[in-house]
This record gives sequence, structure tokens and C-alpha cells, in this order.
Amino acid sequence: MKIGIHDLEVATSHYVLDLDTLAERHDIDPKKFSIGLGQDTFSMPAPDEDIVTMAAEAAHTLLERHDASKIRQVLFATESSIDQSKAAGVYLHELLGLPANVRSVELKQACYSGTAALQMAVNAIARNPEEQVLVITSDVARYALDSGGEPTQGAGSVAMLISADPNLIEIEPGSGLHTTDVNDFWRPNDSTTPFVDGQLSLDAYLGATTAAWDDLLARRELGLEDIHRFLHHQPFTKMARKQLAALAEHTGTELSDDLIEESMSYNRALGNTYTASLYFALTAQLHNNSDLAGKRLGFFSYGSGAVAEFFTGVVQDNYQDHIYPQHVAKQLDNRVALTYDEYRELHSDFAATSETFTTTKTTNAPFRLSGVTEHQRRYEAQ
Ligand code: CAA
Repeated sequence: MKIGIHDLEVATSHYVLDLDTLAERHDIDPKKFSIGLGQDTFSMPAPDEDIVTMAAEAAHTLLERHDASKIRQVLFATESSIDQSKAAGVYLHELLGLPANVRSVELKQACYSGTAALQMAVNAIARNPEEQVLVITSDVARYALDSGGEPTQGAGSVAMLISADPNLIEIEPGSGLHTTDVNDFWRPNDSTTPFVDGQLSLDAYLGATTAAWDDLLARRELGLEDIHRFLHHQPFTKMARKQLAALAEHTGTELSDDLIEESMSYNRALGNTYTASLYFALTAQLHNNSDLAGKRLGFFSYGSGAVAEFFTGVVQDNYQDHIYPQHVAKQLDNRVALTYDEYRELHSDFAATSETFTTTKTTNAPFRLSGVTEHQRRYEAQ
């Protein structure tokens, strides 16, 4: 029985900042961002948006095409959680009007947990093939102003429906895994922005993904030549190039950037979307290449701290009948450009409080955060 990604949809936030604007005001050569990091713009949420509103928009669009009564689990992966106890998936469940007989939880391990959710979903369906699982990846990457990570901020969500007999990708059994305790990037409970050791994070990413590849080789008879295209977690798109070069050196193989080129277009424009980044890479790959039927994709998932997984999936024959590039184009084109001063003000005004507040209506998305009362987040459809 084939199990995998049956359908997917994406959402991003209301605002966008052009990195040329940041470069100009910070007196940095814009090519450092466009070439050095491989980034053009980044998404930024309005005050009435967060991981739940983006996830709800992506999932709502997705479920318009499906019978939601088959969904038995909502697995919400994020590292920009809005509550230390209640799962974002429970808010989402309510906004989507899903039936009550559903399991809803939140998963965390930096940018990696979307992959854990995907694998949990595949395993659940192996036991109950008639059921479906809604896997959500949704994050706001928010770094301190004037920090090294500032140009790699971003926001976005990918919602995926996991089922038997999938329309898009069959996830193959057998992953390569790697966990190591490293303090390359972390966000303590009392901080709204992460602490980052930039160089260590690059080394940890490359080391963990290479180790995951080695672990896969020990378990499956698979060679680099069996992978048609590679997909990466892309904190900035240059990172995918760095990983491919490191893999080539590690294996003593020549690996052309053509293997990853088509996967980068959305992440260049969105910035880092943490858990969603790898799945935006998948979305871009499916949208930018019409000749993938029957081909194997290799997925490099990485979350600081650090956990990495390498797994593979096979693109299904009629995938082109089930993709919606126009929806992504609309999401990106509809973003409202910020001036530098507006961006700084929005960043500084970020409300990490459970004291009562009301948001001004800004987003045009179908769901918004209206504010907080009695220390409870209030969402509404519009
Ligand atoms: N023209 C072209 N390229 C230029 C340039 C110019 N004028 N000026 C600089 N560059 C290049 C540099 O040569 C460098 O390229 P290489 O790495 O290929 O040598 C690149 O631009 C970046 O320059 P720096 O290394 O000087 O940049 P930096 O020190 O300001 O910061 C960073 C880079 C450490 C990645 C920083 O953006 C950061 O801390 N980001 C957040 C952490 C992160 O994303 N880490 C990635 C791995 S961890 C992970 O993946 C999890 C996650 O999501 C966070």
C-alpha cells in the first residue's frame, strides 16, 4: 500500500520586506543577501496574524477539496508556539470546524518537527488505511533587530493531507536519522527571539545532514544516482547549496546545483519558515518541474539543537492534476510592502503578552487574531 502526501496548500503573512531596503539602511552590499544568502524578500505577519491564522488559511483552502470527516489527527509542528500548554492544533481544529473525534497535538524540535509529524502520520495510516491525517507546519522566524539572523526572518505555513493512495508523493519506508545535543540555535522561555551561534549552526546543519545520509545508506540499498532531485530545509537558500557541496565532498561524487535549483524559488521570497521550509521546497519543486512523475525525491530535514532526517518519496503519476501554483503566486503577490521604518516599528511592537489587547484589522486572510481577553487568545473568521 502506498502512503504519503495526498495534497498540500500554503499560506504566508500580510507583509513583506525587500532585503534591498534592509541592505541600503544597514549600509550592506545587497548582493550579500541576494547572492551570499540567496534571499530576496521576507514575509512578516501583521499584528492580527500568527502561526494559527496562517495554518488555518492553508488548511482551509486544502480542505475545500476533501472530505474532512476522514481526518483523525491534526499534528501541528511549530517552533514559534503561542502557548506553553495548549496545542495550536486545538485552536486550528475549532477554526476549521473539524469533528470532535480527532486527536490534536503540537510537536516541537526546531525546524525538524514537521518531518516527525509526517512520519507519525504515515505510520498511523499504515495501521488504519481508511483514515487521514492533517499535518501542519507553521512558523514565524523572528530574529533580534540588527542581529546576524535578521535578513533570514520569514513566515509561512504548509498544510498537508496524509493518506493511503496519495495523489502527490509516496513516502518510502526507511529513513536516515541523527540526533546530537548542540547549542547552535535555541529560544529560552523568556525570550521572543532565538539565541544563535551562526558558524556553529552552519557546521551543525552540515554535520547532522551528512550523518543522516550515512545512516540511510546503512539501512537501504540506495545511491546518490537513485535520487532525481534533493529538497532541503532552507533557512536561507544558499544553505541548500552548501549542503549539496558538503554531500558531494563527503561522498566523493559530483553533484550539480541543477539537483536543487527548482526547489528554491518560494523560500527565496518567504525567508525562513522553520518547520515549513522543507515543505515549501517540495511545493516549489512540484510547481517548477513538469517532468517528475515516477521520480524519487530526497528530503533533508534539519532542526537545530539538533535532529536531522533524510528520507525519500516518489512523485505520483498524475501529480500535475493536483497542484495549484496560482495559489502560491497569489499569496506572494498579495503581500503588502513595508518601508524600513514601518518594519522596525512592527518588529518592536510585537506583543508577547497575555494581558488584554485588541488588534487592528489588517490581514485580508480568512482568519485573524482579534486579540487577547482573560489571558486567552481570540481568533475569528472574516
Ligand atoms: N556579495 C556576495 N556574497 C557576499 C557578499 C557580497 N557583497 N558579502 C558577503 N557575501 C557572502 C559571504 O561570503 C557568505 O557566503 P559563504 O557562506 O558562502 O562564504 C554569505 O554572504 C554570508 O556572509 P557572512 O557569513 O559574513 O554572514 P553573516 O555572518 O552576517 O551571517 C549567518 C550568516 C550566520 C547564516 C546568519 O544569517 C545567521 O545567523 N542566520 C541564522 C542562523 C541560520 O540560519 N543558520 C543556518 C543553519 S541552522 C538551521 O538551519 C536552523 C534554522 O532554521 C535557524
